Amino acid sequence: MTPLIELEGIGQRFGHITALSDIDLQLHAGEVVALLGDNGAGKSTLVKILSGAHRPTSGRILFEGRPVRLDTPQDARALGIETLYQDLALIPRMSIARNFHLGRELTRLVGPVRVLDHARMSAQASQALADIGIHVRNTDEPVVSLSGGERQSIAIGRAVHFGSKVLILDEPTSALSIGETRKVLGYIRSARENRMCVIFITHNLHHVFQVADRLVVLSQGRKVAEHHKDEVTEEQVADLIMSEHQELDGEGRHRHTEQSRSAGSPNKGRQPTG
Ligand SMILES: Nc1ncnc2c1ncn2[C@@H]1O[C@H](COP(=O)(O)OP(=O)(O)OP(=O)(O)O)[C@@H](O)[C@H]1O
Ligand SMILES: [Mg+2]
Repeated sequence: MTPLIELEGIGQRFGHITALSDIDLQLHAGEVVALLGDNGAGKSTLVKILSGAHRPTSGRILFEGRPVRLDTPQDARALGIETLYQDLALIPRMSIARNFHLGRELTRLVGPVRVLDHARMSAQASQALADIGIHVRNTDEPVVSLSGGERQSIAIGRAVHFGSKVLILDEPTSALSIGETRKVLGYIRSARENRMCVIFITHNLHHVFQVADRLVVLSQGRKVAEHHKDEVTEEQVADLIMSEHQELDGEGRHRHTEQSRSAGSPNKGRQPTG
């Protein structure tokens, strides 16, 4: 099966800082991939490349098998790649319904004048959100009245409803309550059921094991591990994140990789099985 997205040898330099080097990664429809790594590992940089916010300095990106250029966030969105940051996704002062339809507003004619069709936008937003289990009091309320978790849900609901193919979440649950987090994790599962590919950055391994199918670990800008969730335990993944000196061998034991590191290719070639 052709991957939805394929990254080949992606590198990103900022002046003399190398944020990413030689990242190969395949992402498929209908899977949730957790992108893990310590602070500064390169996770946000990688998703910014996928969302058109950064142009990689090397490598190429294939979307549905074809090479693409993601020069701007609009380019990414046009392909169906939707990225959510905690506070960047919605416009606080606008209503839930307007935010839901942002860039895709519904209009109606009043005599010769075309005006926004608030009633239809409200009705559609409520229905679409309810369809994936998100219930808001009133879609005419401004987003500013919503909690962080509710905002995340609106943004996820919007991506699901308008048929985005890729949903990228950069630490969506870091500021949420337990209840809100549980809901957002539920919406991630709904997105997967809708055949979306979800890329999920978090420092919370417990969440990873609740929703992710696969996990990819970055360390100092390199991909150091890639596993199906069932192949590893939470503790082993924590070790992978904490130490770039170690990786898991086939039996889940640690082995040192000083030799491969000094050869300049830390842990390269680890691929998921199956
Ligand atoms: N615009 C930039 N200019 C210069 N350096 C940058 C820029 N963006 C990121 N970097 C550097 O690239 C490296 C990777 O940063 P990135 O934000 O991708 O890390 P991260 O894995 O998302 O970390 P965190 O978990 O703390 O969010 C860091 O060393 C960072 O300082
Ligand atoms: Mg980050």
